[in-house]
Amino acid sequence: MKPVKIGICGLGTVGSGTVNVLTRNGRVINARAGCDITITQIAARRDNPNCDTASFNVTRDIFAVADNPEIDILVELIGGTTVAKDLVLRAIANGKHVITANKALIAHHGNEIFAAANAKGVTVAFEAAVAGGIPIIKAIREGLSANKIEWLAGIINGTGNFILTEMRDKGRAFEDVLKEAQALGYAEADPTFDVEGIDAAHKLVILASLAFGIPLQFDKVFTEGITRVSPQDVTYAEELGYRIKHLGIARRSPNGIELRVHPTLIPEKRLIANVDGVMNAIVVKGDAVGPTLYYGAGAGAEPTASSVIADIVDVARTLTADPEHRVPYLGFQQENLRDKAILPIEEVETAYYLRMQALDKPGVLSKVAQILSDSGISIEALIQKEAKDDEETVPLILLTNRALEKHIVAAITTIETLDSITAPVTRIRMESLK
Ligand code: HSE
Repeated sequence: MKPVKIGICGLGTVGSGTVNVLTRNGRVINARAGCDITITQIAARRDNPNCDTASFNVTRDIFAVADNPEIDILVELIGGTTVAKDLVLRAIANGKHVITANKALIAHHGNEIFAAANAKGVTVAFEAAVAGGIPIIKAIREGLSANKIEWLAGIINGTGNFILTEMRDKGRAFEDVLKEAQALGYAEADPTFDVEGIDAAHKLVILASLAFGIPLQFDKVFTEGITRVSPQDVTYAEELGYRIKHLGIARRSPNGIELRVHPTLIPEKRLIANVDGVMNAIVVKGDAVGPTLYYGAGAGAEPTASSVIADIVDVARTLTADPEHRVPYLGFQQENLRDKAILPIEEVETAYYLRMQALDKPGVLSKVAQILSDSGISIEALIQKEAKDDEETVPLILLTNRALEKHIVAAITTIETLDSITAPVTRIRMESLK
């Protein structure tokens, strides 16, 4: 199968992440795409120490990529709305498909870019433009296509959420946290875009168009940032059972569509109120499905690269496979499915919650601990309740570290043979899901 040739413009945080993930996971990505994806050219104003480009054709001229007749897909990762727009329109005019992570570009010029792409019969894909690594565009456009979307609300700026979280949890100063977000590559080139809500507004406009079938209209979004949220407000909200989150909200109402970005108090028991740090989350309410929640890293090199590459795979499939196999049934092309061993449960490693009923007499706990230790299992936490007046036994509750299922089962079998353990041990597996 002919390889699909891509040209990457921009080697900043997302560009270097894209090159690194494509290089590291090339085999698995190609197996899903059904063809080899080759980086034919990279254009960058300067090298990036986080990315080894020695084996690639690197140019300083981004327009050389748009004009390179070899290239099928131009990946625009330079950011901004001026040069990036010229670059994307030139690539489209040259018959290339375009993938971009540029939310500002799509929010401001998407209508014009999509029209140009339609006229030329090429694709423009922009999954990475909203919520970094979360496939929210695919979810709304494809997964929820049966629904009339009623509203959506999201934490869609990682930097802002990181700042609010650090202020709340550690009482850190705004400026100090912002500096850290910049150093970690989360913040925009102009960080006022993050803290004044402009970045979130770019993303909200894109989500609202996908949800409600309206043109992109950035100038209609009400936008308020987080700069006026004070540590006192964070504390008072907390005392009242709320968290302050910076939300982008789009809602269908009888008189029109609400499009707004602002700090918002949310009841602390809502899942989205517990989305912290640089993580993003979006709740989408469809009339058929009800509320759905999408959560993940909203910024950073590799999470955003994950979405860029998903778009590359999507476009590559349309270029190479016959129509009925465009998206393989199991994600990988049929000939790339491999029969890998599935672990029997005995070989699976998890931590455990164990509850046992023990006679209330000396030495029981040490015997149980000895049995676990003989099997290489350590105790992470322990509760022993006092015996009630009329009862001879007490509940003993243990949390173990991670161990092989077969070792836990063997230890429990031995524990159950002790005279001092009066009932079968209750066991529940634990996962930290970190
Ligand atoms: N500055 C953005 C954020 C990067 O913090 O979410 C991802 O779009």
